Amino acid sequence: MGFSTKVGAILAAAGSAVGLGNIWRFPTETGLHGGAAFILIYIIFMLVFGAPIMLAEFTIGRHGQKDVTDSFERMSGGQRGWRLMGLMPVVAGLLVLSYYAVVCGWTLYYAFVAGVDGFGGKTAAQYVSDFQQFSSSPTQPVVWILFIMLATCAVVSFGVKKGIERSAQILMPMLFVCIAILVVCSLSLPGADRGLHFLFHPDFSEIDGSTMLSAMGQAFFSLSVGICCLCTYACYFRKDVNLFHDSLSVAVIDTLVALMAGLIIFPAVYSVPGLQPDAGPSLVFITLPNVFQQVFSGSHLLAYGFSLLFYCLLVIAAVTSSISMLEMVVAYLHEELHWSRPAASVAASAVAMLLATGCSLSFGAWADKTVFGLGMFDLFDFIVAKLLMPLGSFIMCVFLGWVADEKVVRDEVTNGGTLHTVLYPIWLFIIRYIAPIGIILVFIHEIGW
Ligand code: ALA
Repeated sequence: MGFSTKVGAILAAAGSAVGLGNIWRFPTETGLHGGAAFILIYIIFMLVFGAPIMLAEFTIGRHGQKDVTDSFERMSGGQRGWRLMGLMPVVAGLLVLSYYAVVCGWTLYYAFVAGVDGFGGKTAAQYVSDFQQFSSSPTQPVVWILFIMLATCAVVSFGVKKGIERSAQILMPMLFVCIAILVVCSLSLPGADRGLHFLFHPDFSEIDGSTMLSAMGQAFFSLSVGICCLCTYACYFRKDVNLFHDSLSVAVIDTLVALMAGLIIFPAVYSVPGLQPDAGPSLVFITLPNVFQQVFSGSHLLAYGFSLLFYCLLVIAAVTSSISMLEMVVAYLHEELHWSRPAASVAASAVAMLLATGCSLSFGAWADKTVFGLGMFDLFDFIVAKLLMPLGSFIMCVFLGWVADEKVVRDEVTNGGTLHTVLYPIWLFIIRYIAPIGIILVFIHEIGW
């Protein structure tokens, strides 16, 4: 039932990690936190926290070989209480997919608008009102979310090899090609120098506690650590996969894609006089359509091609991640409750679709329905990114570092002692001490203390 090739496993895990977090959230955070200094801290956190916690998830999942529930029980040496962790991917998968699908739906709609050449001839104010009208409509976004959910459901119901692995083998190379073309194009724009300066010349006076902690939060979100997403995929890894190699590869691919997204976006933004990179979450849906039209105002074809390719890139990245989110729920229904994959996929997608509709309505008709001052979309984002991810990562570190038998952990990570890696003791130290303390700091910051 697992991934048939090592490359397929890496591509699927990278597809899960690379998503809107890299191309939408990373440029947003970078723009808001002053550029290069934020990036530097982010890269350090990816290496010190992200990749080690990912390796922890891989270790637990690959040891179990079935699903997250079983993996925790086996790794704990048979303590049944740890089976409760099997509910984490079900709850987190549904919550994250529900609000993630909303932004996926927006990206699909924007790819459609780009495809029908709908961005041209507008004023800056029109880009704002277009987005506001679309996102607050009770029906329009729901239709695009439905398309995304149908595609995701179809891939997941085909199973791990034929659905997830094959789609990753097709979509990930397409994603890399789109990125390469867009980077080359963007670096030839007049604002390239200023964009590169913003991305790669750190101003250390920009670093404060908030920069550090936002960079750590971004590293967690970007790799989806803590919610057992990677653990679910690792259940399908072959026993000869080098987990050190795979976790480092995924972290490196994820970081490179984020940097490339920066290389696409910031030179373009700096090529339009008067625009700044700190537009926040609306950067991709309001600022960029405007930017693409203005920087390529001399060539309609270039403006059209660049916009279309960019939003297609976003759709591909979004779908490979939403596949992994649905798989988190389906794996449980299939393995633990013995539902067929198609039935599990349809049921989980239907629930996610209902919740996603609510999240979408929170931008319009349900804007006044709030809990703790947050609409449904923001509430789900808060629960997943700010509570479940740090909490899950903390539990995983404590579990692997202190509960599981160290010999079992070492055997799993080193493939029964056949891989002699000097990194093992460093990794174990991070998992036991550095990561849990770091996570407590992020957590305290995220809940606003
Ligand atoms: N890791 C996923 C992303 O970056 C959630 O979009």
